[in-house]
Amino acid sequence: MTISLIAAASENNVIGKDNKLIWKLSADMKFFREKTTGHHIIMGRKTFESTGVLPNRTSIIISRNNGLKLPKNCLLASSIEDAFSKVKNDDEIFIIGGADIYRQSLEIAHKIYLTRIHHTFEGDAFFPEIDKAKWELVSQQDHQPDEKNQYPFTFLEFKKSDCS
Ligand SMILES: NC(=O)c1ccc[n+]([C@@H]2O[C@H](COP(=O)([O-])OP(=O)(O)OC[C@H]3O[C@@H](n4cnc5c(N)ncnc54)[C@H](OP(=O)(O)O)[C@@H]3O)[C@@H](O)[C@H]2O)c1
Repeated sequence: MTISLIAAASENNVIGKDNKLIWKLSADMKFFREKTTGHHIIMGRKTFESTGVLPNRTSIIISRNNGLKLPKNCLLASSIEDAFSKVKNDDEIFIIGGADIYRQSLEIAHKIYLTRIHHTFEGDAFFPEIDKAKWELVSQQDHQPDEKNQYPFTFLEFKKSDCS
């Protein structure tokens, strides 16, 4: 089972502010939907509060509050390890944020899909530094802004160097 982080971050690694996404990039939303549809998605409780239920995916929400009320098709996990234990029949699971969960799962992940937005934003949630000694860039697709995508951006895919 491949464990993948999927995120969009600005040049200064900002991923959000006040528990919201800052930008709207239609191409990135489409990329995210296509990658994650049909798979398990794992997220922190704050990200879940921000995004709500995403259709056609199995959502696993991590919280230390074991009484957290969730919609009935979502699963509650008490830790990242507990979240993995709830995954059934999936070849790739996606950790979709936020900052706290990315930081804790970078060591155990095999892949990172990072959309780099070529702009600097102010924010309060950050993607962790990617250690170039541990992560190999395997794919890069540059995109220019257009009427549906306000900023230039690049789809980056990294693979952990010791993963085949
Ligand atoms: N740009 C992107 O790609 C992207 C993607 C996702 C999110 N975001 C942004 O990221 C921000 C949210 O990130 P965040 O760091 O504030 O919050 P978060 O990572 O989404 O959630 C943090 C919460 O997860 C739970 N948690 C974390 N570690 C845990 C552990 N080891 N065991 C059990 N529970 C654990 C805790 O919930 P409890 O407090 O309930 O215990 C904690 O408060 C927002 O601004 C959002 O828009 C951006």
